[in-house]
Amino acid sequence: MAGNEKILVADDDSLMREFILETLGRLGYDAIGVVDGNQAREVLKKERYNLVITDIKMPGANGIDVLKTAMSVNAECKVILITGYGTIENAVEAMKEGAFDYLTKSEKTSPDEIELVVKKALNYQKLETENRLLRSELSGRYAFSNMIGKSPQMQRIYDMVNTVANSNATVLITGKSGTGKELVARAIHFNGGRKDGPFVKLNCAALPDGLVESELFGHEKGAFTGAIKTVKGRFEMADSGTLLLDEISEMSVSLQAKLLRVLQEQQFERVGSGHTIETDVRIIATSNRNLGSEVRKGKFREDLYYRLNVIPIELPDLSQRREDIPLLAIHFMEKYAKLNDKNITSISESSMKILSEYNWHGNVRELENFIERAIVVSRTGTLNEADFPSQLFAVEENEIGEGIQAKASIHEMEKSLILKTLQANNGNRTRAAKSLGITTRTLRNKLHEYGLGSNH
Ligand SMILES: Nc1ncnc2c1ncn2[C@@H]1O[C@H](COP(=O)(O)OP(=O)(O)OP(=O)(O)O)[C@@H](O)[C@H]1O
Ligand SMILES: [Mg+2]
Repeated sequence: MAGNEKILVADDDSLMREFILETLGRLGYDAIGVVDGNQAREVLKKERYNLVITDIKMPGANGIDVLKTAMSVNAECKVILITGYGTIENAVEAMKEGAFDYLTKSEKTSPDEIELVVKKALNYQKLETENRLLRSELSGRYAFSNMIGKSPQMQRIYDMVNTVANSNATVLITGKSGTGKELVARAIHFNGGRKDGPFVKLNCAALPDGLVESELFGHEKGAFTGAIKTVKGRFEMADSGTLLLDEISEMSVSLQAKLLRVLQEQQFERVGSGHTIETDVRIIATSNRNLGSEVRKGKFREDLYYRLNVIPIELPDLSQRREDIPLLAIHFMEKYAKLNDKNITSISESSMKILSEYNWHGNVRELENFIERAIVVSRTGTLNEADFPSQLFAVEENEIGEGIQAKASIHEMEKSLILKTLQANNGNRTRAAKSLGITTRTLRNKLHEYGLGSNH
């Protein structure tokens, strides 16, 4: 549907000019015509037009001059050139100057052709405008210390980070995987008084218990087999800075007791040493699990929980703040286009819609991965549906909800279950097959049957 876009048609050939004006009028566009290049330039300087359709060869200023004026008064204006026989080379030249497209003039020029090229130009313009707005939002108040988001939830998190950054209080950040816990921890460190001190991280889930202890507190030479030299622990390394204890819920109960002591006394000993070391460290802990319920289950010390939970920050799932998805998508598009040295500047409207509606189980990290992949495979300046894995669409189309639809055939149910399981496993076939209780080969055959063989 035509909106309130304004179109200027410049052609000294009255037949062609009237033909275009009539076509545009029927489509509901607000279009006016002028008879030469000079008039076109005058009008363009006075009024704002979305689109200019101009002949190349005209008395007075020619199409290229009109093109230059149009773009200099309004950078977003799109220009379509009308070419006749013998002016195709000029049209190619004009495309280099920034024309959007060209229309070939002949007896056969049809209204459909005009409609197609006009819609293409206006759609592209709309997309550019929307994407530019999103980009300007990114540089404004919707971004804080690498965190992106305009949702009220994210705004509250920015406020919280600002408030706690300058204190030494222990912060406990909870949220599902990929919601940005580490990003928030870094924002707290780098916006506070300790920003010139070190930011040190230890992932408590990645190492066996004994190693976590020596990683935290360090060890003396000979403290255990393999301790060939004295090593400083993260607590010492983080002195005057911040220590991030990632996935704290995975720490063993015995180690929790040792950690509690450091938090209470700000001192500790290296493994295998009696010498007490003083430390000045701010602790930030993160957890995917709800630590309160871990306490109730007896898996986490209550006293340590209260020590850590002085300031709780809870990060929302991405699906609870969908208004942030377009902003995040544009942010990642810019990031990965730059990293991959690609000139990609927008995301198509339909792709953006799908991204905004998808169930992001892996939260921001999953969205980031999808955009990165799309940037790598994309061959145009706009990310399109074809650049995203079919999983993104297939699941939406086959969504059966949590319940079971009475009329769905077994085949449909099976397909839907398989696609949902794949989605829940971020597209990992081995894991999805395992969880479905079928072999990867069977899964592959099923996907092939659904016509989804290659992208999954
Ligand atoms: N609000 C946000 N704005 C911009 N990027 C974000 C945001 N939240 C997360 N990210 C990005 O998403 C990715 C995952 O974030 P992060 O590592 O902080 O998540 P996490 O909650 O620690 O995940 P996990 O529980 O799996 O460790 C990172 O690349 C991060 O930069
Ligand atoms: Mg993390």
